[in-house]
Amino acid sequence: MDALTLLKSRNSTSKLCAPGPDDAALAEIFSAASRAPDHGRLRPWRFLVVRGDALATLGDVFADAAKERDPDLSDADAQRYRQQPLRAPLILVVIACIQDHPKIPVIEQQLSAGCAAHGALLAAEALGYTGIWRTGINAFDQFVNRGLGLESNEEISGFLYMGTRDGQPKPLPILTQTDFMKDWR
Ligand SMILES: Cc1cc2nc3c(=O)[nH]c(=O)nc-3n(C[C@H](O)[C@H](O)[C@H](O)COP(=O)(O)O)c2cc1C
Repeated sequence: MDALTLLKSRNSTSKLCAPGPDDAALAEIFSAASRAPDHGRLRPWRFLVVRGDALATLGDVFADAAKERDPDLSDADAQRYRQQPLRAPLILVVIACIQDHPKIPVIEQQLSAGCAAHGALLAAEALGYTGIWRTGINAFDQFVNRGLGLESNEEISGFLYMGTRDGQPKPLPILTQTDFMKDWR
């Protein structure tokens, strides 16, 4: 697939099955992600690969975090959190590593991490896999951050659920470009 077709047709799905990207595919995915625009070459991002038994362990972290937020959490709700990471054969946790810099503000580093996430999703799609970028409450919870071993200057940009598309792709939205662009002056 040529680059422009890939950019125009990337299509998330929440219905993912095995196989997920293998080590060779992950190497390509990280290579693509690492071409994210990056002011000052700070490399303000890193990734955790969650697969195999680690998916269930991540589910335990999500459930424990939910119990920390709400000690009265029902068992059914705890189980719901526990199941969340099992929706894909592999998850990439995208982490923004924020550095104190005199010229490069936090937002630029967060945007760079977001571009790295987008690069990873595009590369996965180019390799015949697909995925979906999720955040939700788990991306903004200090208990989850600690469970994943984040440092105090790090934050979760997203969980990229990745695997093989299960079913047909959803229709791509048709956007009218004049709704979101115009010539200035
Ligand atoms: C930062 C960010 C966080 C997101 N979080 C979620 C999420 O928690 N749950 C979800 O269903 N979609 C989430 N999405 C949206 C999906 O990743 C996806 O963009 C959406 O389903 C539309 O599909 P498309 O990207 O193929 O158009 C998020 C997207 C972004 C950029």
